[in-house]
Parts: sequence; C-alpha cells; structure tokens
Amino acid sequence: MAKNKTVYICQNCGANSPKWIGKCYSCNQWNTFIEEKISSEKIKRTYTIKSSKHPVQIKNVSLNKDERIDISCSELNRVLGGGLVYGSLVLIGGEPGIGKSTLLLQVALNSSLKVLYVSGEESAKQIRIRADRIGIKNENCFILTETSLENVFTEIEANNPELLIIDSIQAIYTDKIESSPGSISQIRECTSELLKFSKETNIPVFIIGHINKDGNIAGPKVLEHIVDTVLQFEGDSNYMYRILRATKNRFGSASELGIYEMQGNGLRQVSNPSELFLSKHSKDFSGSAVAATIEGIRPFMIEVQSLVSSAAYGTPQRSATGFDIRRMNMLLAVLEKRAGFKLSSKDVFLNIAGGIKVHDPAIDLSVICAVLSSDQDIALANNICFSGEVGLSGEIRAINRIEQRISEAEKLGFNKIFISKSNNKNLKMKNYNIELKLVEKVEEVFIDIFG
Ligand code: TYD
Ligand code: MG
Repeated sequence: MAKNKTVYICQNCGANSPKWIGKCYSCNQWNTFIEEKISSEKIKRTYTIKSSKHPVQIKNVSLNKDERIDISCSELNRVLGGGLVYGSLVLIGGEPGIGKSTLLLQVALNSSLKVLYVSGEESAKQIRIRADRIGIKNENCFILTETSLENVFTEIEANNPELLIIDSIQAIYTDKIESSPGSISQIRECTSELLKFSKETNIPVFIIGHINKDGNIAGPKVLEHIVDTVLQFEGDSNYMYRILRATKNRFGSASELGIYEMQGNGLRQVSNPSELFLSKHSKDFSGSAVAATIEGIRPFMIEVQSLVSSAAYGTPQRSATGFDIRRMNMLLAVLEKRAGFKLSSKDVFLNIAGGIKVHDPAIDLSVICAVLSSDQDIALANNICFSGEVGLSGEIRAINRIEQRISEAEKLGFNKIFISKSNNKNLKMKNYNIELKLVEKVEEVFIDIFG
C-alpha cells in the first residue's frame, strides 16, 4: 500500500522541510510554509508516449520553415519572437483584472486553429458574454469548464484541439497529488504534465498564472523554470493600456514589448506606441523633454516630465516614476558637479508620461534637459528631441541602434535630435529631413537650448 507522507513546502520558493518553520531558510519569507501530502506511490502518466526517441545528429534535425504559428495578433506574435512555436508552453502572468483571460480568449476567437479553452474560474455562460463583446470569428473555439487535469486530457483525446489554453493554472488540480488546488506541488505537477503533453504532441499550450502580492507569478520561480516562455501582462489601473512583456523566451528576444489598449470590445493592438506616450498639447510647457527610446526591437518616442521646486523641508525630496531613482540621483550629481547647477536644495520629481517604465539609458539626456527646463522655467521647443546616455564626467555617450531612433523621430515630425558625437561614425550619413545635432558634453546641449 502506498504510504502518505506530509511535508511542509514554502509557497513562495518551493523549499521544503519535515517540520513547520516560521521563516523560510531559502527565500527568507515569513509564514509561507504549508503542509502538503506527498504520495510515495509512483505517479502514473495520464497519457502514453507514442514514439520512442533516439539521439539525432544535430545537422540532421529537420527544420521546417513554418514551425511557428501566425496567431492573428501581431503584437503577441512579435512578443513571442515571430509567432507561436509548435509544442511550446507559454505562461502569461499578471494581476487580477488586467485582462489575461480577455487576451487569450481573443486569441482563441480570432485564430483559425481548433482551440480548446479550459476555464477553471468562470462559467461557460460568462465566457460567452465576454466572447460576444469581442466578436466570435472562429467556429472551432471550444470552451471546457473543468478543474481536473485528468478530465482535461480525456477531453483533449476526444476533441483533438490544435491549441490549448488553460485559465488558470492555480485552478487546475491533478488527482495524483493530495494537496489542494493552487498549492505549489499542484501547480508544479500540473505544469510539468502540460509540458510533457505539449512536447509529445507538438500542440502549443498557453497557461494563465496569477501573481502574488510581490508581483511574482504565484508558485513563482518553480513555474518559470518549467515553461518555455514567460510573458508578464502589466498595466496601471489608471491607464487603459496594457503592456505585454516577455521576461523569458526560449524562442526569441526577452526584451520585447507588446502594447494594447483595453476597450469596450476587447483589447486593441497599439501599433504606433509614440501616439500613446507623447502628450498632445499645442503650448510648450517647461519641464518636459522628448526622448527617442527603444524597447525590444521597436523604437518610440516618450515624454519625460520633471518638476523642480525649492525644498520646503531640510532634506529635499527626490521622486521618480517610471525611471530608476538611483540613476536620476546620479544625473543630478552630474548636473551639480559638471554643469554648476545648484539642485541640492531643490525637490526634484520625475515622471515618464503614460506610466511606462523605461530602462533604456538613452533617455538620460532628456532627463537632465527636463530637469533643467523646469529649474530654469524655460520651455523646450516641442519639435526637438534627445537620445544619448550621460556618463559620470558629463560626456554624452554613444547609444545603440541610433538610425532607428532617428528615423522614428523624423517620422513623427521632429526637426532636431541631439545625439552623441561618438555615434557619428556608426551613422551612414543618409539624407535625413531632421537636423542631427552632434554633442560631446552636456554643457554644449544647455548652451544650444537655453542660450
Ligand atoms: P480579465 O480578462 O477578466 O482579467 P484577468 O483574467 O487578468 O483577471 O479582465 C477583464 C477586465 O477588462 C474587466 O475589468 C473588464 C474589462 N474589459 C473591458 O474593458 N472590455 C472588454 O471587452 C472585456 C472583455 C473586458
Ligand atoms: Mg481571468
């Protein structure tokens, strides 16, 4: 007879212990240990392996041209690295209500494949109401409201879908493990079963995962190691647009971004992000500077806003939204030391318009120009933009993919872009309609724009 053993498992990192402990020895979180039963019985496979595999010489591995599925959503296609790979397991994580179910239902409804959408959270009626808002294009979209993984596999065998969607992994359980649905052992076991399924049948699988209060996918690292691709769906409840970010991708770049806008009839793809991140005002305001940035493979323009005011208290406040605050402090120190601006008694607030987070160092130059514009209360002309990294000695450093940034600025009607002099040699001097202002030091920029 199988003997059942109980162990305590950290729900944050998956570490285990024979006894309950208050603080996890591995991830240092408190109160994360939960008792789970582990059966020592050999776990039965839910389906059988059809082919036996043998080693193949790497040059003999066959490569089909169309091994990616073009799902009719160009943003998601790009984030996945150019389409969905057959047999891949993709995890989409995000906060409740951000639109994960909507996104994948939209994929199912617009696809030309036979799709099985397994929902463990909502009833078929609720999904139908949502589908009516989005519009049903795919005749072969099947809904299954089921939480048992074994039953899901039975239905798969009966229906032969070409794409499987699991909403959500926390709601699904397998009988092979006694712990409750949503516990880390269940999540891990169900995900590995789905991985085996996708690899053996070559059917791609999407799974939705909830995130915990720290912003990680619940049952976090454990899951991220198993799957091929991890996508984070993020957004701000105050803004209607959502950002889909690849954080791990075995089949493409992990720095790709997809942008959507939540509308009454589902998610709209935003193919020109600059329209979203540039605030449209005809008058020039002080404290605002536009940067040509790149996220993933796509260049776009964003607006950096700053407010500099005299500090009311002894210690000035420094706050940055969408930008690394330590980097902002470094840039302020550069301004003090290299350009002689006294900011030590001023409060400095920085905001990237639109609520996006930017990691690209090329926006440094626009950050310091926005700060100075606010400090001097002089508005910058709204037809100039910047793209350059600022070094500790106040030098403007070269940045990558400068031509794409220049073209994007040109396309959006800017007249002048400030870039580093060192970028000059990588630049094929095409006939740009935009004036390229090559600068070496921050002082040159200030003299040019503030006189
Ligand atoms: P949902 O997809 O259920 O989020 P998740 O699965 O990540 O929890 O979230 C949907 C939210 O979006 C909900 O607040 C309603 C809204 N919504 C729209 O604004 N327009 C739509 O067409 C749909 C389907 C939902
Ligand atoms: Mg949902």
